[in-house]
Amino acid sequence: MQILQVGVLGGSGFTGLELLRCLRGHPGVRVVFATARQPDAVGTRRFPGPWCTSEESLAYSVDWVFSCLPHGESARWVTAWADRGVRVIDLSGDFRFPTPELYTAWYGIPHPCPERLAEAVLVLPEWNAEAARDRRIMANPGCYPTAVWLAVLPAVRRGLVDTRMIIIDAKSGVTGAGRPPTERTHFVNVQENFTVYSAGRRHRHVGEIEYYLETWTRTPSRILFTAGLLPVRRGLMVTVYAALRGGATARTVWSCLVEAYAGRPFVRVRPLGEVPTLHDVVGTNRCDVGVVEADEAGWVVLVAALDNLLKGAGGQAVQTMNLWMGWDETLGLPVEGGDA
Ligand SMILES: NC(=O)c1ccc[n+]([C@@H]2O[C@H](COP(=O)([O-])OP(=O)(O)OC[C@H]3O[C@@H](n4cnc5c(N)ncnc54)[C@H](OP(=O)(O)O)[C@@H]3O)[C@@H](O)[C@H]2O)c1
Repeated sequence: MQILQVGVLGGSGFTGLELLRCLRGHPGVRVVFATARQPDAVGTRRFPGPWCTSEESLAYSVDWVFSCLPHGESARWVTAWADRGVRVIDLSGDFRFPTPELYTAWYGIPHPCPERLAEAVLVLPEWNAEAARDRRIMANPGCYPTAVWLAVLPAVRRGLVDTRMIIIDAKSGVTGAGRPPTERTHFVNVQENFTVYSAGRRHRHVGEIEYYLETWTRTPSRILFTAGLLPVRRGLMVTVYAALRGGATARTVWSCLVEAYAGRPFVRVRPLGEVPTLHDVVGTNRCDVGVVEADEAGWVVLVAALDNLLKGAGGQAVQTMNLWMGWDETLGLPVEGGDA
């Protein structure tokens, strides 16, 4: 097996450390460097390194780079590495949208290098991994869009649900917000509390979810999306309410999902009527999806759960690399398990 030399930008953050954990256990990878701004950053205690800054990392020679930097900062390092002929997977939002206008509309800042957006492709491994073949820059979706798309894309593609209004109730553990503490993520505000935020159409993932639902299925789509902060460290759950169309039932939707994910190791469709819990998926790279009947109301309820740091971030990035390399999709990644 070819051994890839890889580097991780932003390795000291929550997603970076989880990615490093997967890469360290991967038989086809050698980690050459990981970056943090300060040599004594908290995360640097948890992985032997070598640690360096993003600037210093350019002295290393690698085949692949993963960027776990914040959006706005990530783009210039992604392009710097792409210019060296290295393949890059960006976990930030900088290369998810194809145009600078969409980026600015949803991220609220000008794109750092708008002329480079056309070089990138957004990869959801279960959906369009082959689209990455000729690209040097690959973006992975955020954790919420990953769960939403895995739950609804097969049914939307088959025309089983009405995309004129899909309602999404989403909740994440606190690691979804990254390491820097804020008033919202303060222990006292999180513990034994539940807060919703970005209700309606304000969350930046609304734009990504709608844009790719439309692009990938050629179906105009509108969503309402409300995020919530769970008093847990990791794990994410979305509950999706969609109106059935064309005589479809919850069972039809469930069969469609079962068929779509047959043979896919990282999406587990639960028996009809059974919904996943966070503990089913935390610590794994799986997204578990449940379908609940509400046929008498003409609606179906889909519930998807995943670990935001694995299937929602670092694990999905390794899965993307595995597929690109033609390796077993599961190399270096936890398939089974969950929390106690
Ligand atoms: N958390 C999630 O569930 C999740 C899911 C999907 C995608 N993502 C995306 O993944 C990326 C990382 O998220 P995270 O949650 O891991 O964030 P995080 O915990 O805040 O980590 C950010 C990393 O980037 C470094 N960094 C921060 N600002 C920097 C700057 N201005 N210049 C250079 N390095 C900088 C940090 O280094 P220091 O140690 O020096 O601070 C750290 O290594 C973000 O773009 C996020 O949107 C996150």
